[in-house]
Amino acid sequence: MKVNDKHYRTVWMEGSNVKLIEQNLLPFEFEIYTADDYIDTCAAIQSMQVRGAGAIGATAGYAMAQAFLESLDTGATKFWNEVEQAKKTIESTRPTAQNLFYATNRVFDAGKQENNIEDSVRVAVEQAQKIADEDAAACKKIGEYGAELIKLGFRIGTHCNAGWLAFVDNGSALSPIYVAHRNGIELTVYADETRPRSQGARLTAWELYNENVNHFIVPDNAMPYLMSRGEIDMFIVGSDRIAANGDVANKIGTMGKAIAAKRFGVPFYVAAPTSTIDLNCSSGSKIPIEQRSQDEVLYQTGIDEDGFIQKILVCSPGSKAINPAFDITPAELITGIITEKGIVKPNVDEIKNLFS
Ligand code: MRU
Repeated sequence: MKVNDKHYRTVWMEGSNVKLIEQNLLPFEFEIYTADDYIDTCAAIQSMQVRGAGAIGATAGYAMAQAFLESLDTGATKFWNEVEQAKKTIESTRPTAQNLFYATNRVFDAGKQENNIEDSVRVAVEQAQKIADEDAAACKKIGEYGAELIKLGFRIGTHCNAGWLAFVDNGSALSPIYVAHRNGIELTVYADETRPRSQGARLTAWELYNENVNHFIVPDNAMPYLMSRGEIDMFIVGSDRIAANGDVANKIGTMGKAIAAKRFGVPFYVAAPTSTIDLNCSSGSKIPIEQRSQDEVLYQTGIDEDGFIQKILVCSPGSKAINPAFDITPAELITGIITEKGIVKPNVDEIKNLFS
């Protein structure tokens, strides 16, 4: 997607460096961060300088590629020990994100097929690039399939950020919106804030503003009210992991919206590439839920009148917080899953069919 008329991907690799759009500074500052080794790339994933299902996956793939490159210096005897250790470190950064494991396994397995470590490194770097390219292409297809659901004048609710910043390009939940908008379909997006980190208010709103898509930022707790008044025609959210039975892990707060959508008859769609589906996970109860720092709840970051980014305490001093990063939306609340292979019902047969 374009920023100031220049096309960017969310993350890419240059030589042995991983370059990424620094999302913790958005929407106030636009900067590219350079991670020059895999440990640095892991820190960028963990601190959410890069975030969102597909972007985490692509970055993890690149981090694996960096680990292969860095392990060359250790020589043939230690090489695989080093790479395996790096894989574990990368996989510990964001435990809910299925795309992360999808990418580390793919890069590792590709490298493992080769007979010498030089070829392993070359193949690992190629595989990481392939994962990023496939992510961008899958999100483009999701946009085409999903746009068919959007009718003239639709008011569409979304949660968190499942736009291009959350993937390599195009996005999942926002991709159909971009396609419909470019096709001249008038629409309005209701982006909720998504406390505690406010990915909706900061990132989704920034994306929609840049693309000239009509939108409002909505308080997190206002969505059921809007739905009860018939002011939302459909919901589209992303996902961080989809179980084989169609249960969906997504940013905390998704389940509440899905319950309200069911109650008020609003179609509730999940948009995700098939790389987010975990067939080894039989149901949502098996998906590990990442617990993040209480500081994300207690403090907020914004820009002051002089244009400086400031972090301030917004809660009663001395109180503690709990901060689960994701929840599980049961399949029965989901109207359909928009993938790059088409739109399916959230059940085990239709989900397994995507892979046949
Ligand atoms: O914790 P985040 O910001 O990495 O959360 C992931 C997400 O972006 C959302 O849950 C999103 O809706 C999933 S699709 C990218």
